[in-house]
Amino acid sequence: MSDTSFILPSDLKANYEAYKDELRAAALRVLDSGWYIGGKEVEAFEQAFAQFVGTPYAVGCASGTDALILALRACGIGPGDVVITVAHTAVATVAAIESVGATPALVDIDPERFTLDPECLRRACRTLAAGHAGRLKAVLPVHLYGQPADLPAILAVAAEFGLVVLEDCAQAHGARIAGRRVGAWGQAGTFSFYPTKNLGALGDGGAVTSADPAVATQLRLLREYGWKERYISHIAGMNSRLDPLQAALLAVKLPHLETENRRRQAIAARYTAAFTGSALVLPRTFPGTEPVYHQYVVQHPRREALRLFLKEHQIGSLIHYPVPIHRQPAYQNRLPLPAGPLSRTEAACERILSLPIHGQLTNEQCDRVIAAVNAWLALPS
Ligand SMILES: Cc1ncc(COP(=O)(O)O)c(C=O)c1O
Repeated sequence: MSDTSFILPSDLKANYEAYKDELRAAALRVLDSGWYIGGKEVEAFEQAFAQFVGTPYAVGCASGTDALILALRACGIGPGDVVITVAHTAVATVAAIESVGATPALVDIDPERFTLDPECLRRACRTLAAGHAGRLKAVLPVHLYGQPADLPAILAVAAEFGLVVLEDCAQAHGARIAGRRVGAWGQAGTFSFYPTKNLGALGDGGAVTSADPAVATQLRLLREYGWKERYISHIAGMNSRLDPLQAALLAVKLPHLETENRRRQAIAARYTAAFTGSALVLPRTFPGTEPVYHQYVVQHPRREALRLFLKEHQIGSLIHYPVPIHRQPAYQNRLPLPAGPLSRTEAACERILSLPIHGQLTNEQCDRVIAAVNAWLALPS
């Protein structure tokens, strides 16, 4: 009998079931240990994650948002500084910049990658360098949907204008450019282990990667009150620790990440083969890059109708993100847009739809999604 149950965009229960025995054993080990903050579980995961990304250092923290805040602070970014980023991202990217007292300056995206456009970056740098909006200090590209931003081009512009490059890798664990993983290109890379991410904890978690020992030292100080030794703060820090329970669970999942990412890539290839030539605009792979499909995002001017049709056919879909940050009530009309209007960002928000994709999605479920999308495409419009 064919399965007609609801297909979730991401399925945390299925992911847990896939690694259940190992996860339970790891959780019990931590519970039985009597050691619940820091210690060898956290250190072991940090080492394994650094090795995975290809950086000498990875420093765990409480979330992807905190990873951004810690990375910005560790790189010396604070009040009076300007950080260029995109409006097509999770709000955390922009919120983190404001949390350290800096000003986010928003630029448009490359409409095919959905990531920061290096030419818009160059124009923004020229405008900001000529003005008095603050010290232009850093650029923060986001590898959205698992698609690597064009880092070689972004790094070239950053070098020209003396900018720090921080990568927001929250949606791209394992993605590569020219064989090198994201998080190993900029001064620091920030990761979220929110449960739905490609590498997800069973709660909140985050990490910052870096090749710079001075940045790693700052990160370790900042995440725990600026302590070198207990109770003595050498700098003003915060409390943002990855706890040993999450670290142990992440250490179980990390060795499976490559397989999970390959499964996501296979699902993406199946969707792409089925929808090529249709009215949907599909994600592309760019030469030399390896995306990890945190989301598979299609574009269509009538995406709301498609979303409804899929729901009627027991298929969940999501919109990441429906309103660009500069149009959201908390931010509208107050953030600088140094490279002009964000027309590509705004156009993308109107057309995007994320289809179900995750490491445990079966071929049968994938084919049900394809059949439903094709049935909708075949309707008279
Ligand atoms: C691009 C991006 N940056 C930052 C974050 C923040 O991560 P967290 O939810 O772990 O704070 C997220 C996740 O929501 C994200 O998708």
